[in-house]
Amino acid sequence: MSWWNDFADRTALDVPLAPMTWFRLGGRARYVFHPSDADDLSRFLRRALDASVPVKVLGSGANVLVSDEGFDGAVVRLDRGSFKTIRYREGAVETGAGVELMPLSRTCSERGLAGLEGLAGIPASMGGAVRMNAGGRFGEIGEVVRRVEVVTPQGDRKTIEGRALGFGYRTSALNGAIVVRVELQLRPDDPERVRARYEECFAYKQASQPMAEHSAGCIFKNPPGASAGRLIERAGLKGTACGRARVSERHANFIVADRGATAADVLRLIDLVRRRVEEAFGVELETEIDIWRPSGSREAAACP
Ligand code: EPU
Repeated sequence: MSWWNDFADRTALDVPLAPMTWFRLGGRARYVFHPSDADDLSRFLRRALDASVPVKVLGSGANVLVSDEGFDGAVVRLDRGSFKTIRYREGAVETGAGVELMPLSRTCSERGLAGLEGLAGIPASMGGAVRMNAGGRFGEIGEVVRRVEVVTPQGDRKTIEGRALGFGYRTSALNGAIVVRVELQLRPDDPERVRARYEECFAYKQASQPMAEHSAGCIFKNPPGASAGRLIERAGLKGTACGRARVSERHANFIVADRGATAADVLRLIDLVRRRVEEAFGVELETEIDIWRPSGSREAAACP
C-alpha cells in the first residue's frame, strides 16, 4: 500500500506542470493533489511528512519558474470546494486561497469596496498573493489582510492575524505554512471612484508591461532606492536572448519565453542579466520569482 492510497481519487500522477504556470515551462510533478478541504490537506501533509515526500503548493503559477527536471514530490492545488469561494460581509471579504486575485480586485472595485484596486491586473491566487505580499507601485495586498487561516507543514491548522504575518517587500513570514483562507478588510467607498482608480492602475500595467506574452512578471526585486527594470535597460539588455528566452522590449524586468523555450534558457538569461548589471553598476539583483529546481542540480552552461 502506498502512502497516498487514501487520497488516490484526488491525486494525479506524473503530471506536466508547464500548463499550470504563466511561463508555460518546466517538467513534471510526481504527484498533484487536489484536497477537498483544509482537513483533507492537513491529513495529506502529515502523511507526506511521514513518508518524507516533499510538498509544494502551486497557486496560479504566475510567479514561478519550474525547472525542466520538474518536481520529484507532491504539488498541492487548492482548486476545489471552499478554496474557490468568496463571501462578502460589508467591508470584510473572505476568500478561499484558490480564488484568483485579478477578477476579485475587479469585482470589489465594482462593488465599491476599496483596497484591492491598486492590484489591478496582477495575476495570482489569493494564497500566492499573501505569501509574496503581491503588489506594485499602487499598493500591496498586506495592507488589507486582516487574518488568514493556514495549515502548517506538520498538518496543524492555525489562524494568523495580519499584523503577525510580517509583510515586507514581496515577502511574508508564513514559514512554509499553506494559506487556505484569507480575510480582507476593505473600505466601502463610491463605486465609481473605486472603479476609476482600478481602470487607471490596470491601464498603467497594460501600457508598461508585456501582459500578453508568457512571462512570470518581474523577475528581480527592485534593489533599495533603484528600479531593476531601469538598471537592466541601462545595461543595454532589452531584447537580449538566451535560446528562446529574451528580455522584454517593453519592460526590462520581464523575461519572455517564446515558443520552444526551456526553463534552462530562462535560468541562463537570469544569470546573464545578473552578471551584466553587476558589472555595469555594482548592484547584485535578487530574484523575485520562486524557482523550483532540484537541490544540487548542476548549473546550465552560461549564455554566450
Ligand atoms: N523602467 C525603465 N525601463 C524598464 C522598466 C522600467 O526605465 O524597462 C523605469 C520606469 O520608467 C519607471 C521605473 O523604472 O520610472 C519603475 O518602473 P515601473 O513603474 O514599471 O515599476 P517597477 O518597479 O519596475 C513594480 C513591481 C511590478 C508592478 C509595478 C507597477 C517590483 C519588482 N515590480 O515594477 O510588479 O507591476 O511596480 O505597480 O516590485 C511583479 O511583481 O511581478 C511585478 C510586475
